[in-house]
Amino acid sequence: MSIVIIRQDGKVALWKKALQEYDPSLEVYSYLEPHDKEKIKVALVWKHPEGSLKDYPNLAYIASNGAGVDFIFEDVSAPTHLPITRVVDEQLAIDMSEYVLAIILHNLKKLDVYKVNQTRKTWQPFPYKRIADVRVGILGLGVLGSQVAKDLENVGFKVQGWSNTRKDLKNIPSYAGKEELSAFLNISDILVCLLPLTKDTKGILNKQLFEQLPKNAFIINVARGGHLVDQDLRDAINNDQISGASLDVYHDEPLPKDHFFWTFDEIMMTPHYASVSDVKSVVPQIVENYKRMQANLPLLHLVSKNRGY
Ligand code: NAP
Ligand code: GLV
Repeated sequence: MSIVIIRQDGKVALWKKALQEYDPSLEVYSYLEPHDKEKIKVALVWKHPEGSLKDYPNLAYIASNGAGVDFIFEDVSAPTHLPITRVVDEQLAIDMSEYVLAIILHNLKKLDVYKVNQTRKTWQPFPYKRIADVRVGILGLGVLGSQVAKDLENVGFKVQGWSNTRKDLKNIPSYAGKEELSAFLNISDILVCLLPLTKDTKGILNKQLFEQLPKNAFIINVARGGHLVDQDLRDAINNDQISGASLDVYHDEPLPKDHFFWTFDEIMMTPHYASVSDVKSVVPQIVENYKRMQANLPLLHLVSKNRGY
């Protein structure tokens, strides 16, 4: 029995070493080194090359090396009839929360404007917004969205969330389902997307949604590029419906050099780094699941095939 790690971002060796240090009895292979495919029981994957999962005849389950699993379902040749697990990790949620807070404060206090003005030696103070006056809406009140919502509420923002099922979070009004989306959007000055990418959420950040936000709302997309209709964002900013956006995720990553985001003043970009699975924090749950599979116990953090997340 062994594990294969399939990811193309140069981090295979890091994860392999960490898994073997945590449990020296594990047999772990990079997908690029010689290995007996028949012996592989688990594929630990992050944006694996399409088709690379189909030749493991004895795979027991697929483990996403991140919180999202959209890239597994997108690979039509992947054996998605097998169980799929994902990362559910406190550190990942804390990192996301810190990132979102940083972006919001940066925006409220116009720090990017002052940086530009500094390069021009321009002294020009602007009015600023206060935390207590800002309403933040979180699309997706799951593991990450709930952490972000709670932390933002703790520092004084008015926070509400939207999800499939209603939540019970202190001081955080919960809106559920399509019927309540509009009411939720109407009171979100800043909208944070933390939904999984599924057939139901693809393209949700579009013209129709932007029009339901208060005028000059600000968008933060930290979920997946596929949630956003890029042209609709450009139009909404150009007609002042949306004041700007902060994006961490894109349809194609890395973002192609000729994409208009790169040079659009009202869009701030980071390179899909809002919260990254931390080796030390995540390895124990990967090993725990491997042992569970060997012992015929239920796996942790299973993805629902019906819901797609
Ligand atoms: P999660 O725990 O599965 O939470 C997903 C939330 O979205 C849940 O509250 C769910 O509602 C809600 N939801 C799903 N489909 C919906 C729909 N059609 N309508 C309304 N609500 C819907 O996921 P998570 O661990 O928080 O992660 C969320 C996403 O963040 C991941 O899928 C990934 O794409 C992204 N992510 C990005 C980064 C980054 O660095 N940028 C890092 C990690 C993760 P219910 O609670 O009612 O089911
Ligand atoms: C990162 O994007 C993740 O899904 O963990």
